[in-house]
Amino acid sequence: MEITYLRVSITDKCNLKCFYCRPDDMTFFDKEELLSFEEIAKFVKALTKYGLKSVRITGGEPLLRKGVEDLVRMISEIPQIKDIALTTNGITLSKHAYKLKKNGLNRVNISIDSLKPQLFYEITKGHLEDVLEGIRVAKDVGLNPIKVNAVVIKGLNEDEALDFVEFAREYGVEVRFIEMMPLGQGQIHWDLDMVKPLDLIKQNIEKKYGKLIPSNSIGSGAARVYEIPDLNVKIGFITPISNPFCDGCSKLRLTAEGNIKLCLRTDEHIPVKDVLRYGTEKELDEFIKYVLMEKERSNAQIQKSNYAFSECRRVMTSIGG
Ligand code: 5AD
Repeated sequence: MEITYLRVSITDKCNLKCFYCRPDDMTFFDKEELLSFEEIAKFVKALTKYGLKSVRITGGEPLLRKGVEDLVRMISEIPQIKDIALTTNGITLSKHAYKLKKNGLNRVNISIDSLKPQLFYEITKGHLEDVLEGIRVAKDVGLNPIKVNAVVIKGLNEDEALDFVEFAREYGVEVRFIEMMPLGQGQIHWDLDMVKPLDLIKQNIEKKYGKLIPSNSIGSGAARVYEIPDLNVKIGFITPISNPFCDGCSKLRLTAEGNIKLCLRTDEHIPVKDVLRYGTEKELDEFIKYVLMEKERSNAQIQKSNYAFSECRRVMTSIGG
């Protein structure tokens, strides 16, 4: 199996409190438990032998980890890596964007679930205006493309689809609508009634703008991306519930404390810290071969389970979107 893309979480802490992403009483990893930037870069480099060329840095909120710009530089110095992206909530992005770009970051994904400041606050306990400022600065410094992720939740923000399209046009960003997944089981309330199937959102947009044209986008991964004719706007749909996109998945996640997470649909993971810290280069390579085999096994199992989310106790803030 070829692995072209790796997501790296560098902290489980976040400066927002989205109700579907983390419980109120969460305990976080101690700093000493986290992989160092050197260890992360070592793992990234080792994976390039298997095709890795694109890395996404995520969290929690990755900009909360001191020196994140240094990690970007270290990864950008690995010649095989052609694309570095960051997933952020955007709250402090305006302070970091320039240096991130200078150190080799190409692009950002930013989460905005509502364009109404009051509802945004209710969902996140943060201020929309900080995020909008982050987007403006990210644009100014040349991060491109900028993608905005909106988790669509029935009865909450489902009526904002057309506003998001207008927002995409005004700010020159792509918008991707996401179905809410049942992560953090036992800690976070989820039921199928909260999921807004995204084909309904798509129909709404088509009613106003005409038929969407299938398109693509840099690093589009799980998203089905469309263009709105005449508006020059791209819209994506990520449908883990209504239309799973698991077949052929080669996505791996490296968690902040040093585990390989094989898939969002299971808590199965493989510890990597010891081999990174104490192993030889050969042992690390053998380990990666084992991970790739496990990924294939896990894919088959998930297909057999009909793409169930089984025992996903780990919350998104300690996985990283
Ligand atoms: N289902 C879908 N998306 C989620 N995110 C966080 N938790 C969930 C969930 N349960 C999203 C965030 C952000 C990205 C990192 O993951 O809103 O856009």
